[in-house]
Amino acid sequence: MSRFGHLISIDDLSKDEILYILKKAESFEPFAKGMDKSRILENRLLANLFFEPSTRTRMSFEAAMKGLGGDVINMTAQEASSVAKGETLADTVRVVSRYVNAIVIRHPLEGTARFAAENSDVPVINAGDGAGQHPTQTLLDLYTINKESSLKNIKIALMGDLKYSRTVHSLIKALTLFNPRIYLVSPDSLRLPEEFLEGIDGDISFASLGEIIDEINVLYMTRIQKERFPDEEEYRRVAGSYKIDVNSLKNAREDLIIMHPLPRVDEIHHSVDGTPHAKYFQQAFYGVPVRMAILSEMIE
Ligand code: NCD
Repeated sequence: MSRFGHLISIDDLSKDEILYILKKAESFEPFAKGMDKSRILENRLLANLFFEPSTRTRMSFEAAMKGLGGDVINMTAQEASSVAKGETLADTVRVVSRYVNAIVIRHPLEGTARFAAENSDVPVINAGDGAGQHPTQTLLDLYTINKESSLKNIKIALMGDLKYSRTVHSLIKALTLFNPRIYLVSPDSLRLPEEFLEGIDGDISFASLGEIIDEINVLYMTRIQKERFPDEEEYRRVAGSYKIDVNSLKNAREDLIIMHPLPRVDEIHHSVDGTPHAKYFQQAFYGVPVRMAILSEMIE
């Protein structure tokens, strides 16, 4: 097993390990831009097991692995795999882990990545388990804050669906290592679950965007996670709430950065894209060097 073992929750990494990965990612940026190819994972194979839709996460893992000289095999459509014949996840993982050097898994059920790790001989990386965790997204989010703003004196608003967003659930844990001021901006029904507030001794409070827009230096937007709502009616009640456009940013600090794990639906108006605040596409790019750093540490 690699130095880091599996990567299931952001809690699996210490602050020093997080900072180490961010530093390493910096050195991979030229490779991520395709200027050259590193060979450090030559003859190594990664399996992407995605039981849920993905564009950025799956493709950036693929780009990262190939950028390091390795290769990738994918299992995406469940209808086309033996899962459709009733194969258990444990058996799928037992088999695939014999083909490859590491497994990336995304699944709609919370806890699945940990379960997969228990059945795998090779490192397992959680690429999102239901509303649970998404640790590699957190690493690229921290990388973005570090590059485009600063990890010191973070004043961040987490806005939108804080109940079901796994990117927020992961990020908030890691943020507390950096002494941030955190504002939670969401409809009542999508508030951050209490369990994430426990054990946070930092500065955290509920707010509306208007109250804090002139204070924050990071605005982290999220999509309302339609697929996680138990009923459609509940989704419809909040769909379309908590949006921003250029008018929402009138009193923003000049150095405010706006982040979003993407995909966005309608929560960030396109008029924001051309402002210097918009960093979400750059953030998506950073997924490649950050995942290169993760893979290079996890695969021997
Ligand atoms: C996020 C996810 O899957 O949790 N997307 C991503 O990985 N970039 C966010 C989302 O789907 O809204």
